[in-house]
Amino acid sequence: MNLKNDLLLRAARGEKTERTPVWMMRQAGRILVEYRAVREKAGSFINLATTPEMAAEVTLQPVDLLGVDAAIIFSDILVIPEAMGLPYEMVEQRGPVFPSTVHSLADLQKLHIAEPETDLKYVLDAIKITKEGLAGRVPLIGFAGAPFTIFCYMTEGKGSKTFSVAKKHLYADPEFSHTLLQQITDSTIAYLKAQIAAGADLVQLFDSWAGILSPEQYRVFSLPYIKQICDAITEVPVTVFAKGAFFARKEIGELSCSVVGLDWNMDIAESRELIPNKTLQGNLDPCVLYSSYDQIRAEVKKMVNQFGTQRYIANLGHGVYPDTDPDKVRCFIEAVKEFSSL
Ligand code: CP3
Repeated sequence: MNLKNDLLLRAARGEKTERTPVWMMRQAGRILVEYRAVREKAGSFINLATTPEMAAEVTLQPVDLLGVDAAIIFSDILVIPEAMGLPYEMVEQRGPVFPSTVHSLADLQKLHIAEPETDLKYVLDAIKITKEGLAGRVPLIGFAGAPFTIFCYMTEGKGSKTFSVAKKHLYADPEFSHTLLQQITDSTIAYLKAQIAAGADLVQLFDSWAGILSPEQYRVFSLPYIKQICDAITEVPVTVFAKGAFFARKEIGELSCSVVGLDWNMDIAESRELIPNKTLQGNLDPCVLYSSYDQIRAEVKKMVNQFGTQRYIANLGHGVYPDTDPDKVRCFIEAVKEFSSL
């Protein structure tokens, strides 16, 4: 189906756009009362994510209610460990928890490479229903966690400031670490290809914990696996968002991805220099959305001027915080549209 609004795809491919496309990480979620109503009906995050009709409904909400230029499928990066045989729970007010974790090569023998058509059929069905609901209005983004970030959860078992259990394995047992990272990578490639076959128009890799690694460790334990994924996904543009990996921008810029996501710690002009040949995405501090309408507009104007209107996808530098006023989000989106129109 032809897209009515293909700004995101044109920007990702480096083609000319009459204005900058804009969407927000975590746009399908708790900022909207309409989301919270569906979430209530579902009873739990996992019920919502595994019921394709409801997952599709909350995926469409930001397109209808906020005016973003893309939808991102409602799911979570943690569906991959679950599909490999390591289920998670989402605990209210606390976040994800894995009742069991993996720590040895023997543990890894109990896992399997994810088979998306069976293990993750609910996500693929949600993508198909969402595509029908979108009827070509905007592109649909598929996603997965980067292998290192998924490794963090599968070994640590929960969120952490340091992920010291996960990092201990990198130093103490590189063989275990590389074996698990490869299993995750193989699962992720199959999963992203299945999302694309189901209708995803672009895919994004979230390396949310990239910033806890040293540059050297990042080169050994994260980049080679992201590279494998980028090289394997040739069907649609790929975005790599490695939160906190300011030190790896040049190397990320040399991957075969189309778009590099930036967080707000990364200087825009410096990033353009380090990554001269790719589209950049980002990078407004989500906390700007707590300020006044005038200040939000001023910050957006500054950001668009620094990035320039071309080879650019406007976004926040990380997911939108749940207590953000949706009217402030609308202000952000409208300001991008206004200040980036040619
Ligand atoms: O972007 C979107 O709107 C699509 C949906 C999406 C979710 N999670 C839904 C969600 C996406 C892209 C994610 C990715 C994700 N999940 C990441 C990478 C992005 C990032 O923020 O760094 C990570 C690290 C996770 C793991 C995860 N899921 C955590 C740590 C938590 C708890 C804390 C939190 O942010 O809420 C989740 C839960 C989660 N994932 C919720 C949503 C809407 C909240 C659960 C609820 O509604 O009860």
